[in-house]
Amino acid sequence: MDLTTSHFLQLATGNWVTQMLHVAAELGVADQLAAGERSVEELAPAVGADPDSLFRLLRGLAGLGVFAETAPRRFALTPLAELLRSDHPGSQRQFVRMLGGEHYEAWGDLLHSVRTGENAFPHRYGEPVFAWYARNPERGAIFDGAMTDFSRVEIEGLLAVYGFEGITHLVDLGGGHGALLQAVLRRHGNLRGTLVDQPAVVAPVTVPDDLVGRFSVEGGNFFEAVPSGGDVYLLKHILHDWGDDACLTILRLIREALPPGGRVLILEQVVPPGNDPSPSKLLDLNMLVMTEGGRERTPEEYARLLERAGLRLAAIHPTASPISVVEALPA
Ligand SMILES: C[S@@+](CC[C@H](N)C(=O)[O-])C[C@H]1O[C@@H](n2cnc3c(N)ncnc32)[C@H](O)[C@@H]1O
Repeated sequence: MDLTTSHFLQLATGNWVTQMLHVAAELGVADQLAAGERSVEELAPAVGADPDSLFRLLRGLAGLGVFAETAPRRFALTPLAELLRSDHPGSQRQFVRMLGGEHYEAWGDLLHSVRTGENAFPHRYGEPVFAWYARNPERGAIFDGAMTDFSRVEIEGLLAVYGFEGITHLVDLGGGHGALLQAVLRRHGNLRGTLVDQPAVVAPVTVPDDLVGRFSVEGGNFFEAVPSGGDVYLLKHILHDWGDDACLTILRLIREALPPGGRVLILEQVVPPGNDPSPSKLLDLNMLVMTEGGRERTPEEYARLLERAGLRLAAIHPTASPISVVEALPA
């Protein structure tokens, strides 16, 4: 087979790989191998799988560098497989569980989205994604865990480029379980932080011992109100979930709360022009599928959106991860 066809077929079978990783994550295979290599005959009862099918799954994944067959029908972790462990510092297990579940189903309706411009998730599930998660709390917990997994990749890159100097009170709107806010507070001992998310999402969040007095948690709805008193309002992967009108509602509430000298930090993957490969161009399609009007935006689209909210785009700071810090000031 020529290289072009082989590359094309690798792209075309991406859905197989998504499901292979998803099943390994769902079964918890990597957790079972954390203490050392095992045969499929030992592994299968431990993860609740059929031995021969599990062997075929792990052989397929080993061919992609995820797990390694060390002797016939014996498997060990590889650096890629380590990311499927629940307790690995860079774990992506919940992210992979999320991708293979309702995300996978909704992506099956991408054709509908492209034909009609409608978002696929509400088309397939009959309601918007966050309403569906609220009614399916087990899947909602996997989504929240996936956001924490995704954040891990992004946090170090953010802390390396953004100093948070001159800030006293940081408000993280839609901050999930608070992984980002807690990391920023630990790096900058002079800061206070308020985490806001939907009441059910923040219900399990407790204040860590080392952040008592500096980290507070509020259940809320960022379309109705945002806490006052912050000098910086942070939105990570929030605006990309919504169309421009919904984003304007959030941004205008922030603008009203913003003191002179305050800032808004929008952490998103910014879409570059041209043909250059960029994860933002794929995440943008995920937003088309999963959300109500959500999209990734170009620098010009951010500038226009911010202007309509009484803000101005001050700078875009790229980070080592695909996200950038879009910094906005009062206009
Ligand atoms: C894509 S996630 C991003 C989470 C987190 N900022 C991160 O980057 O990991 C979007 C977040 O917005 C929250 N959210 C959705 N609608 C909301 C609302 N009306 N008010 C407050 N939070 C909301 C969700 O619960 C979810 O945690």
